This record gives sequence, C-alpha cells and structure tokens, in this order.
Amino acid sequence: MCGIVGYTGMQDAAPILLEGLKKLEYRGYDSAGIAVTDGGKLSVTKVSGRIAGLCEKVSNGNACPGLTGIGHTRWATHGAPTDTNAHPHRSNDGKFAVVHNGIIENYAVLRQELIERGYKFESETDTEVVVHLIEMYYSGDMKKAIIKTVSRLRGSYALGVVCTDCPDKIYVAREQSPLILGLGIGENYFASDITALIAYSRNVIYMDDGEFAEISKDEINVFNPQGKTIQKEISHINWDVSAAEKGGFDHFMLKEIIEQPNAVTATIAPRIKNGHIELDDIQFEEGYLENISKIIITACGSAYYAGCAARYAIEQLTGLPVQTELASELRYGNAFYDEKTLIIIISQSGETADTIAAMKECKKRGSKTLAIVNVVGSAIAKLADYTLYTWAGPEIAVATTKGYTTQLAALFLFALYAAQKRNTVSQSKYSLLLSTIKSLPGKIQEALDMSQSIPKLAKKYCKTDSMFFIGRNTDYAASLEGALKMKEISYIHAEAYAAGELKHGTIALIDEHKPVIALCCNQTLLEKTMSNIIEVQARGADVLAVTSADNQQIVSISDDVLFVPKIDTVFSAIVEIIPLQLMAYYVAKENGCDIDKPKNLAKSVTVE
Ligand code: G6P
Repeated sequence: MCGIVGYTGMQDAAPILLEGLKKLEYRGYDSAGIAVTDGGKLSVTKVSGRIAGLCEKVSNGNACPGLTGIGHTRWATHGAPTDTNAHPHRSNDGKFAVVHNGIIENYAVLRQELIERGYKFESETDTEVVVHLIEMYYSGDMKKAIIKTVSRLRGSYALGVVCTDCPDKIYVAREQSPLILGLGIGENYFASDITALIAYSRNVIYMDDGEFAEISKDEINVFNPQGKTIQKEISHINWDVSAAEKGGFDHFMLKEIIEQPNAVTATIAPRIKNGHIELDDIQFEEGYLENISKIIITACGSAYYAGCAARYAIEQLTGLPVQTELASELRYGNAFYDEKTLIIIISQSGETADTIAAMKECKKRGSKTLAIVNVVGSAIAKLADYTLYTWAGPEIAVATTKGYTTQLAALFLFALYAAQKRNTVSQSKYSLLLSTIKSLPGKIQEALDMSQSIPKLAKKYCKTDSMFFIGRNTDYAASLEGALKMKEISYIHAEAYAAGELKHGTIALIDEHKPVIALCCNQTLLEKTMSNIIEVQARGADVLAVTSADNQQIVSISDDVLFVPKIDTVFSAIVEIIPLQLMAYYVAKENGCDIDKPKNLAKSVTVE
C-alpha cells in the first residue's frame, strides 16, 4: 500500500529519499513526505498529492540538508489524503519522526490512552499513535523505546523512525509488511520494496516479522523482539536497474506489455532441459503429486484470474479437480481442504495481506502450499512449502501485465509437470504440449505484432461508460482479466460474462451504447460464442471480436476483429490477453487517464 524509504550515510539524504519515493510511487500516491535530521534539528515536509509536489516544496531536497532521513508515499487508509495526515508524523516534543506502512488495528484504544496521558494528536491516522508511544517510552535508549512500543501494537507495520538524540541512526521494525534493508559502503538504506533500492544497493537483508533494526552509515544491527542481536543472511539482487526505469516508453504499463515475451522466456526457458520440465526450485517429496486428490488455487485480483485461466489446463492435464477461491473469501470460508489438497497461491508481490492470511489458514489444516511468486524473499515465498518464481522482473505499473502472463506460464509448466508425474498424459502429448509451452514467448510476440490497429480501435471504443466482455470456458477466464484491465485504468465499467449466461439476465442491458468484446479463441465452443455475438449485435451492440488467425468467419458477424496466433486452447489465455491489455491501455490513454497510477488503486495491497 504505502511506500517507505530511508537513508543514512555521507550524502544529503533528501535527494536520495525523493528518488526512492519516485520508485515507490506505484505503492501509494495520494500524499508524501520526508523527515531529515541535521545534527539536533529535525525537518519534516509533507504534501498531499504526488511526489512531484513534494520535490517542488523542498527544491528537490536542497531545502532540507542532513545526512539521515526517512520518507513515505501514502495510500490513505485512516484519514483523508491531506497534508496533515501525510507521513512522517512527529512527536509532541519534536524529537521523533515516524513513517509507517500497514495498519495499526488497535490504534483507537491506544489513541484514547495517549490522549488521556496528555499527548496531542494532529492527524486522523492510525500511525500517529506510534510516534507518541515512542516519545512516552523513550528515556535515552531508542532500542528499549522501540521494543516497548511495538509490544503495544496490533496489526501490520513496517516502521522507520528517526530521533534527534541519535541523528545518524534510523530504527526500523517489521510485522506483516514488507521491509528490506540495503547495504552500501559508508551508507545504508531501507525500503518497503527493492525497486527503491536497486539503484543504490544490490546487497539486501529481508527483515522478518517481529524483528527490528538499528541502521547507521557503517553498520546494521538486527534484533529479535526481545532485543537480542540476530545474524541475517545477505541476499544479492540481480535485477537490471533499467528494468525498473521507463526506458523511453510513455508508461510503465506499455513497457511491461512489450516485455512479456522476454519475461515469459525467463520464466519458462531455464525449466525446460533435454525435452523435460525440471522444476529445480521445487523439491516435491517422492510420490507427493501422485497422491494428492485435489487442488485449490487462491489469490487476489489478476493473480486470481491467472488461477481461473490455468485451472482448465491443470484439470485437463492432471485429471485433478481444481477449485479457485478468492483469498479474501477462502480465509473466512469453510471450503474443504486437507493434507491431500495442494494449495496453489499466486501473487506477484508476495505480500498481499489476504493471500498471506488464506495461506496460513490452509497450512493450519495440513495442506501443502505451492507459491507462484515474482518477488524473491517475499512473505509468501518464505511461508510456502514450495515456491516457483515467475521471473518477470520488477513490475511497476499498478495494473499487472507481465506479472499475469508469467503466472500463467509458470502454472502451465506446473500442469504439464504434474501430469507427467501422475501419468495422465501420453509421451507424445507431453512432447507436443511442451513444444507449445516453449513457443509461448514467440506467440505472445506475434500477438503484439498483430495489434497494430488497436490505437485506432481505441478511439472508437473509448466513448462509452460501460462495456461487456464475453467468452466461454478458457475465453471466459481471459475475459475476466480483460475486463479488470479495462476498468482498472480507464474507469469504464467493464463486466466479464460467461457467454452462455448472457440470456439469464445480462442481455437485458445490451444496447447500442454498450460495446461487447467477444473472445472466441476456444475452437470447440466457437460456434456457440458466434451465436452469442449475433444475439448482442441484434440488440445494437458494437462487437469487437478477439479470435485465432484462422477464424475468418468471425469477420462477417463482428464490427471489428483482432486476430491472435492460433494456439492449443488450454494455453490460449496467455495470447488472447495481449490485445485486451493493449486495448485497455489505449482506451485509457485516449481518455487521458493516469495509466500507471490509477485512482484509488495500489500495486501491493498489504492491508486487508
Ligand atoms: C492489486 C494489484 C493487482 C494484483 C492484486 C494481487 O490489486 O493492483 O494487479 O493482481 O493486487 O496482488 P499480488 O501481488 O498478490 O499478485
């Protein structure tokens, strides 16, 4: 949700904090602020709105000198996005400043207690209780004050704290919100996300729940909740810095759409060796996959839709029943699963709060968990019994594209791998499908190449308040993600509907003002979807069909057609989503929307 960053070293902190915040802006962007210590002086600057406004206010950092500081970019949860509610929050005595990502669930009780003790609150945020608690518990020893403070907090937090008594140090603490420390020479960093660090440091420490740390320019000490020093592993990040930059594209989203052939190659290629799938990063116990009786796929947002689309491949190839569950529902529901159920968890960030909670529930009942995750060392990757990474690289645009397609690629690999283990595919089918999986990056590239008409089509389809996406089976699954992309970035109401269900209600809404995007790549159901196209056209809707290159018959019954390369139906979602991503992108661009940072959305949803 929010993004936090911190620096201490030999350079002025403010420009580095501002650069870090720009990288984190996709996590939250309704207000931002920085706090810098300069000897015994603490300066705090906050603004509502974008980081650009903050940069202007502090003259790109020149207005607040000092070698140590913390910064925050906010996605409001408690209190409107105003200057006052923006972080950092300051203590009443002016000694401490705090930035926070997460939600303090017991803040109301703490606030009341602190008010009764005479502390004055300026903001409506949950975070402000933290800074007053620190002031209350501080008696010259920051470590003790942090231990006491965090012992009072319930909920999730990644905290960054500075104090004028020790102006060259930063204190950080983590519980259920991502927090990474970056190691430099004569300088050190922290951030909620690697993207803010990689320009400065590739050697990082992932903080775990309950831990806190003291950061100075020459050393980092990490402690357990009782304050005992712990040794942490240093991980090396090999992401390319340019992968986190826009590289000449107007938007990260377009850059990430174009990157998909490479991202899918990176996910697939290292795992296909000598005509076989080798999931080296997963060590299933001997006989495990052969003996499971069911799979549940759980996730949020697009990751959930990736699960919906891959379900068909897993069911068809492995013969196992597959259930898809939204993580926010599964965590509180009564779905049946046990030690013979494999739970597949999908998450780009690896930090989504509902997904983590669902995963913990499943583990309690003895189910094994397989995580499909993009961020190495993230909470979900660490919690899972098995982790299969998608190698999409950093994804910055809030609306996921390469995250989704690499998730599909990883799930397809798993489906075929499990099918071979379970002996549910013949050798010849295995070889055929494996060569299809290998061809996916090339097919995605072809789909990109075949999308030249989309900017023009977007001009026609952008002038609506509402549109429908229809399809059957695998096409329906792809339409769910297509509609989500459209609504996320263009704010046009877009609803995905199983084409066979149209007659049970939705068709009442169809008229000449509501275009229909009809997905018809599923060859077996092509004629049935064609009938649905004719039905909606008869009610006045403009129809844009997305279909495989050889289905020329669609041309005569649709207003517009986008062709994609032909591919085995079980994998077709990964190709047909490409024109839908581009369509959403160009419609949003046509309507002047803020594509990379859509209103009200955040990339990483680390609160419930
Ligand atoms: C947010 C993002 C989506 C993402 C979803 C799940 O809503 O905007 O793009 O699909 O969270 O996030 P995850 O990181 O778990 O895949």
